[in-house]
Amino acid sequence: MSKRKKPIGIFDSGVGGLTVFKEVINFLPHEDIIYLGDTARIPYGTRSPQTIIRYSLQNASFLLRQDIKLLVVACNTSSAVSLPQLQQENEIPVLGVIEPGAKRASEVTKNRRVGVIGTEATVRSRAYERAIQGIDHQIKVISRACPLFVPLAEEGWVNNRVARLTAQSYLHPLREEMIDTLVLGCTHYPLLEEVIKETMGEEVCLVNSAKETAKEVKRILEEKDLTNQKTREGTHKFFVTDNAERFIKVGEIFLGKKLQTVEEIER
Ligand code: DGL
Repeated sequence: MSKRKKPIGIFDSGVGGLTVFKEVINFLPHEDIIYLGDTARIPYGTRSPQTIIRYSLQNASFLLRQDIKLLVVACNTSSAVSLPQLQQENEIPVLGVIEPGAKRASEVTKNRRVGVIGTEATVRSRAYERAIQGIDHQIKVISRACPLFVPLAEEGWVNNRVARLTAQSYLHPLREEMIDTLVLGCTHYPLLEEVIKETMGEEVCLVNSAKETAKEVKRILEEKDLTNQKTREGTHKFFVTDNAERFIKVGEIFLGKKLQTVEEIER
């Protein structure tokens, strides 16, 4: 098969990576995509780096066996912890969500005070901080883990009292830090964008890492002459490591439409 016709592989710890998938199909409607959600082992955000790396390498190896042309690590936790190893061990381009989000944040901040929210493991890794300060070392990065946003998003509780109270208790300390930019450093957080915006105030610019990553995927495919030339819509295949039924149900909250077929694979 010609390289251009090969699919793009995307993996995440579960359903959250659909926020990245959604942006990728927006920017690249003609690409075939294979998505793997490691639903048997979610969450990654509370696990140790060694475990996250092990899971990530296994996910990547499943997708590589499907003969993909580019790998997107949609999971922020996995990108934060395992990207260097994934890039080192693979010949195809491997892209995570941290660099694109960090780049955008460094472009939009005016007062050089940037907030980052993500899972415990993402915050602990300081990957966003390193990436942002690698671009501009004068930017101060203030990070905060917001673990409860993940189950809230999966429950579809994205704009009710519970979501607002949770956002207030996580985000008020960040407001006091006078940040002017906030990176949504977790797959699930774009679903809570409205409540986060309301809590942080209009003046704080929210950076959606999923969207920035999709733009970067498009740029890399063009640069490497890997863009699929077909004019019909791309095909999308979904694999999970457990409970396809729940993936379909929660996936609808993330995509706004029902996924047709999701296949369970052995882990
Ligand atoms: N996908 C994860 C992330 O973006 C959130 C869910 C998890 O903890 O696995 O960090």
